[in-house]
Amino acid sequence: AQADIAVIGMAVMGRNLAMNIAEKGFKVAVFNRSPARTDEAIKEAGDLAGNMIACHTIEELIAALKPPRALLLMVKAGAAVDETIDQLKPHLSQGDIIIDAGNANYRDSVAHDKALGAEGFQFLGVGVSGGEEGARHGPSIMVGGSPKAYERVKDVLNAIAARYEGASCCGYMGPAGAGHFVKTLHNGIEYADMQMIAEAYGLMRSGLGMTPAAIADVFEGWTKGPLASYLTEISVQALRSVDPTTSKPLVDVILDSAGQKGTGRWSAIEALDLGVPASAIAAAVEARGLSSMRSLRQAVNGALGDAERAPIGSATPEIIADIEKTLLTGKILAYAQGFDVLAAGSRQFDWNLPLAEIAKIWRAGCIIRSRMLDSMSKAYSATPAPESLILDPDFAGELKAALPSARKILGLAVANGHPVPALTSAVNYLQQLRTSRATVDLVQAQRDIFGAHGFERIDQPGAHHGPWHTGAE
Ligand code: 6PG
Repeated sequence: AQADIAVIGMAVMGRNLAMNIAEKGFKVAVFNRSPARTDEAIKEAGDLAGNMIACHTIEELIAALKPPRALLLMVKAGAAVDETIDQLKPHLSQGDIIIDAGNANYRDSVAHDKALGAEGFQFLGVGVSGGEEGARHGPSIMVGGSPKAYERVKDVLNAIAARYEGASCCGYMGPAGAGHFVKTLHNGIEYADMQMIAEAYGLMRSGLGMTPAAIADVFEGWTKGPLASYLTEISVQALRSVDPTTSKPLVDVILDSAGQKGTGRWSAIEALDLGVPASAIAAAVEARGLSSMRSLRQAVNGALGDAERAPIGSATPEIIADIEKTLLTGKILAYAQGFDVLAAGSRQFDWNLPLAEIAKIWRAGCIIRSRMLDSMSKAYSATPAPESLILDPDFAGELKAALPSARKILGLAVANGHPVPALTSAVNYLQQLRTSRATVDLVQAQRDIFGAHGFERIDQPGAHHGPWHTGAE
């Protein structure tokens, strides 16, 4: 046996991870349910195939691996993971490690850890972000599971991860479940960030009458400022692309109906479950959902007429700077919400999630990599760590400076019929948080009137009821 690790599942992510591992000098055994895919992967690997061992049967795979065996699964989340584990199990020895590196629900990872652990095997639930390119040249890696199992594969995972100023973007998040929980929230933030960029695009496109190419130029400028990020960069790329068949901007021929595989929704569900507001993430998930309700959209469009989107102004540098600050406000708040869910999950499950480390390993490799994450890692390195990113003095200062622009732009957007659900959710969240007197006093009154739920008074201790006006006096 000579392979350090196995990669199972030779679709593009698995293949790229295997090549990445081989390139870093490790021997990797590769396996796919249909053996033809394994051979294709070896062919594609070229010179790197020297460090790869093609296995066509599970028996060959097991024989190729150094004990305790480390088997990394890169198969579709859900049923395919369960089936693969069931197929492997009869061949494993005590102490062998199954690594689920797909976009699993963290609850599944907790269950796998329990079930495999009871049979003497080890399990790691590992979040991998960075898409195909990341898998091939350096993803962000979020590991959950026993430290002992991590120790066995630490060198491989750290070697293949992205680097930020030389530091590996692979980190140990905590027990099984923690890795996939962190990856899920990464994706929730990813959804919010993408939706907000799209909303800023919409404001410039239909609110200022700009062309995709002109908006690409604006976004390119933003890649040099506080919004510098991979998602801003690829938005430039997207808006500059032209459809070869129609010569129209490529975005204009894309059906406006967004797909989703579950991680964004899970983030919103976990947030609700934990009682943490993550309104910007939820709004982004809902925006994708609404976009795909095509027949309802058409019916409403027919019944009420097209949204009469009026201009919000003309494309002056001032208004564009205001839109940049609006996006900055929304983005800080969406990340703050995402980190709050992480912090709440950490408390709830007793995981002790390393928030500063999470921000650090998200600085390169993953889809939400951005300049802002470096500041976030610094914010969470403070002792004590801030209760919310909003309370970090630098972010508080940025929000304070940008908020007037956001209020102005979102006011114009709503008044002129432009949908901006994620940006407004984020800003409403901040407005609610900073208000010194919320209007739920009336909600408390209603609860007491219909259900005698009682309320606290601002001037006296204890529980109080009414007296309520009966209509008789
Ligand atoms: C990543 C991505 C990746 C994938 C997600 C999102 O971090 O590399 O998040 O995991 O793109 O599955 O996909 P959906 O948008 O289809 O939910």
